[in-house]
Amino acid sequence: MGTDRFLFILFFSVLVLNLDITTSQTPDFISINCGGQSNFTDDLGLDWIPDNQIIYGNTSNISVRNETRQQYQTVRYFPGDNRKYCYTLDVESRTRYLIRATFLYGNFDSNNVYPKFDISLGPTHWATIVISDANTIESQELIFLASGTSISVCLSNATTGKPFISTLELRPFNGSIYLTPFENQFFLSVSARINFGAENEDPVRYPDDPFDRIWESDLVKKANYLVDVAAGTERVSTESPIDTGKDEQPPQKVMQTAVVGRNGTLTYRMNLDGFPGFGWAYTYFAEIEDLPPTETRKFRLVLPGAPELSKPVVNIQENAQGMYRLYEPGFENITLPFVLSFKFGKTADSSQGPLVNAIEISKYVKISDGSFDGDVAASLVSGYQLSDWGQEGGDPCLPVAWSWLVCNSDPQPKIISVKLTGKNLSGSIPLDLTKLTYLEQLWLDGNALTGPIPDFSGCQNLKIIHLENNQLSGELPASLADLPNLSQLYVQNNLLSGEVPSGFLNEGLILNYTGNPNLRKEGSGGRRNRNIIIGLAIGAAALFLGFLTSCILLRQRKKYPKQEPKHGMPVMNNATTEAAQCFTLSELRNATKNFEKKVGSGGFGTVYYGKLNDGKEIAVKLLENTNVYQGKKEFANEVTLLSRIHHRNLVQFLGFCQEDGMDILVYEFMHNGTLKEHLYGPLARARGINWIKRLEIAEESAKGIEYLHTGCVPSIIHRDLKTSNILLDKNMRAKVSDFGLSKLAVDGTSHVSSIAKLHIENGDIQGIIDPALGNEYDIQSMWKIAEKALMCVQPHGNMRPSMSEVIKEIQDAISIERGVVAAARERSSDEMSRHSILNMGSLDLMSNDHDLSIDESINRPGAR
Ligand SMILES: *[C@@H]1O[C@H](CO)[C@@H](O)[C@H](O)[C@H]1NC(C)=O
Ligand SMILES: *[C@@H]1O[C@H](CO)[C@@H](O)[C@H](O)[C@H]1NC(C)=O
Ligand SMILES: *[C@@H]1O[C@H](CO)[C@@H](O)[C@H](O)[C@H]1NC(C)=O
Ligand SMILES: *[C@@H]1O[C@H](CO)[C@@H](O)[C@H](O)[C@H]1NC(C)=O
Ligand SMILES: *[C@@H]1O[C@H](CO)[C@@H](O)[C@H](O)[C@H]1NC(C)=O
Ligand SMILES: *[C@@H]1O[C@H](CO)[C@@H](O)[C@H](O)[C@H]1NC(C)=O
Ligand SMILES: *[C@@H]1O[C@H](CO)[C@@H](O)[C@H](O)[C@H]1NC(C)=O
Ligand SMILES: *[C@@H]1O[C@H](CO)[C@@H](O)[C@H](O)[C@H]1NC(C)=O
Ligand SMILES: *[C@@H]1O[C@H](CO)[C@@H](O)[C@H](O)[C@H]1NC(C)=O
Ligand SMILES: *[C@@H]1O[C@H](CO)[C@@H](O)[C@H](O)[C@H]1NC(C)=O
Ligand SMILES: *[C@@H]1O[C@H](CO)[C@@H](O)[C@H](O)[C@H]1NC(C)=O
Repeated sequence: MGTDRFLFILFFSVLVLNLDITTSQTPDFISINCGGQSNFTDDLGLDWIPDNQIIYGNTSNISVRNETRQQYQTVRYFPGDNRKYCYTLDVESRTRYLIRATFLYGNFDSNNVYPKFDISLGPTHWATIVISDANTIESQELIFLASGTSISVCLSNATTGKPFISTLELRPFNGSIYLTPFENQFFLSVSARINFGAENEDPVRYPDDPFDRIWESDLVKKANYLVDVAAGTERVSTESPIDTGKDEQPPQKVMQTAVVGRNGTLTYRMNLDGFPGFGWAYTYFAEIEDLPPTETRKFRLVLPGAPELSKPVVNIQENAQGMYRLYEPGFENITLPFVLSFKFGKTADSSQGPLVNAIEISKYVKISDGSFDGDVAASLVSGYQLSDWGQEGGDPCLPVAWSWLVCNSDPQPKIISVKLTGKNLSGSIPLDLTKLTYLEQLWLDGNALTGPIPDFSGCQNLKIIHLENNQLSGELPASLADLPNLSQLYVQNNLLSGEVPSGFLNEGLILNYTGNPNLRKEGSGGRRNRNIIIGLAIGAAALFLGFLTSCILLRQRKKYPKQEPKHGMPVMNNATTEAAQCFTLSELRNATKNFEKKVGSGGFGTVYYGKLNDGKEIAVKLLENTNVYQGKKEFANEVTLLSRIHHRNLVQFLGFCQEDGMDILVYEFMHNGTLKEHLYGPLARARGINWIKRLEIAEESAKGIEYLHTGCVPSIIHRDLKTSNILLDKNMRAKVSDFGLSKLAVDGTSHVSSIAKLHIENGDIQGIIDPALGNEYDIQSMWKIAEKALMCVQPHGNMRPSMSEVIKEIQDAISIERGVVAAARERSSDEMSRHSILNMGSLDLMSNDHDLSIDESINRPGAR
């Protein structure tokens, strides 16, 4: 789409910018000693904190022979019931982390029943913990990109014994070594991270590894771990420093040791936890033997059943461009079995056998989307952080629901029942409850709730409502009677007043409203009222017909029934249901001083500045192609749609006017005009936008677009995104305009412009990169971003990234710009740089083609 194109143009400019790579962050480790009582620092220098804030579960002391580390003297355990028990940790959004959970059973319950249970990260199943030895530590590691500001690790689904945990360790990464093309969809669950030729059985970890990855020694003895070692395998090591290039590569200590296959081969067999499946596998090589120039070391990887993988020949010195330098070939997506046998075999013309320093294998774990009502539920409990039911943590429905909720079994589960009976709730009924659109049962009885009953017309599936025994006041809302499936409503013993609308007095509904001294049965006058409401609910289509002519009616009745998708109306997640404001032409003439000051013009019409009587500044758009709307109904549909779209990165639609044959739309006024003016207009020279600001604008615009794609049901496709449709407010915050005008945008098939329009020129990339950059930047990360941008203009929707991925790329670019080095891996950097530059040369560089738009067929949002 135009969007993607636009973003690409911005992305491309990444290359022209000077990156400031200076800042560094000291690791912000969190090490939780579960079941512990106090803080301590261990021998490695790691600071441990106890988990005594957790209100669930019990703690126990354990004693395991030869295990003296303090964090392994205690556990916290939980009942083996059908609930989940969660630890919630603060993280920095869009940062990559390693999270490690360890489990030392130590017969804490004196039962010798080895526990088996599941752990999850948020809604995503992480691993099944199977204890098979009371004195052996089970460990699980996951690498993930934080998408929010907190994460939850939950224990659940005990099939034997009680779920328990010994430690929880969170380690932020610095850059992007573990960046994969799939990281929005998959976590990396670490299966093997092996230090070959290790000095002893101890793992290499912090402080040798600044990220505290655990590089296991190849000398450790455990079941089917590195067996079938070929004869002639020798351990070698060096004291010389190893140039590993990037911060997050294996630590020097790991690279200083290796195994060599003196007889021509290295072979190993081992179990890969979590496999079979798709994985991420890297090997780390550095030549640490001083070979005479006459000697060669060339070898191939051999995996049973994967002959194609045996084609590439490894020549460490050549690949790494020298001795004592890292070469790290690997696979971003490889299918691996549970029992992995692998071999490195020398080539016929090689004088030396193979050498390997380390390997790392992780499995892709599909990230769950989480439950449908996740955000609403999170917002709901955020008001009740101190109550036990408010701190259960994790996703409301997955892997199992909070104790006071029932969720359905949809692939993306929805909350269908809320049971908060007798939880000492005070204040008014939380409005978040009215946003649980699939709710069927609501139990809030026996609390101290006050105030009026809110509007539950957004919860059309409600069947049973228990509000009795509270202190609710105000009227019994008539809208409750219009819930089509409501069969039981209990409001007895409250302080409700007024009349019971006659709509409630039908045969099907059980209603108990006794014990409300001021609530009376209504006379027959109410019937008409109810009919009107029903009329509104079912007859939405008819209503739209009368929409324009009955502005007055709408003004009186601000609340608007939830629309049915079958009318083609979008349903916004958090949208208000207010109807669009209908302005009169004379009002707008006044505001614009009879359309005096023209502030813009575009494909759809001319825009005038205006100021309403209350001082609010507005932009008034006179639509020009008025004949696109066959009738008033259609126009009403369009503007009703617009009035429901609210997002901080979308220009706010305020209202409309249709009089004297004119179609007029009214928007908030954006003080800083269009991005186009800032980039290319006379403003550009005077106060050009710097690169980071451009990236921020790209991010903001992308968020607006993402909202149109994913926040609106059905999705709204912009179809005409361009720099002149990105407006900047007083604070230079970007908002997208001209969205949702689908009728206007279609205008026949003229938008089949698209990729044909891309001028692939052979630009000289070197001439474009700011020479001041020198070599002080990571071209691989830039290349990744540029690639993402190219993917945005792929002809088929399914090849293009979703807007959320695009946003992530931009955010990554912003963090690069802010000085965090994204150190993408893959190949040794020098070679890659040259490679990238060559490829870059073929990119389209027409950066001033700012009015490009691309047809609808390639405008679909990504799958998610
Ligand atoms: C993080 O990256 C910066 C910049 O490359 C580097 O100076 C710093 O040492 C890194 N931190 C760690 C813990 O490696
Ligand atoms: C323990 O460490 C945490 C985190 O460093 C700190 O906030 C807390 O005050 C410490 N508690 C005690 C008792 O020292
Ligand atoms: C564990 O041992 C500590 C002292 O070592 C003691 O204070 C604590 O009460 C014990 N906890 C349990 C659950 O027995
Ligand atoms: C425990 O440590 C002792 C002394 O260091 C050693 O002899 C013994 O083999 C160890 N036992 C185990 C199970 O590792
Ligand atoms: C925790 O211990 C208390 C008292 O020892 C006991 O009543 C409770 O049932 C225990 N909870 C669990 C989850 O075992
Ligand atoms: C619970 O664990 C059992 C056995 O590991 C597994 O078959 C089942 O799918 C799990 N249930 C859930 C809800 O994860
Ligand atoms: C490995 O090489 C040594 C010496 O070169 C030889 O004695 C031995 O038989 C070889 N072993 C195998 C399994 O080839
Ligand atoms: C890995 O490749 C397979 C096909 O070989 C594909 O089905 C799978 O989705 C890929 N995995 C990821 C994480 O993209
Ligand atoms: C109920 O809530 C009130 C304040 O909202 C609090 O003072 C009181 O202690 C709570 N009672 C219980 C049993 O939790
Ligand atoms: C509402 O009731 C109708 C008729 O009984 C039924 O078909 C429909 O499935 C119900 N809706 C829900 C969400 O239960
Ligand atoms: C209505 O509620 C009151 C008070 O809880 C109860 O005594 C009465 O039996 C209920 N009436 C019906 C019809 O359920």
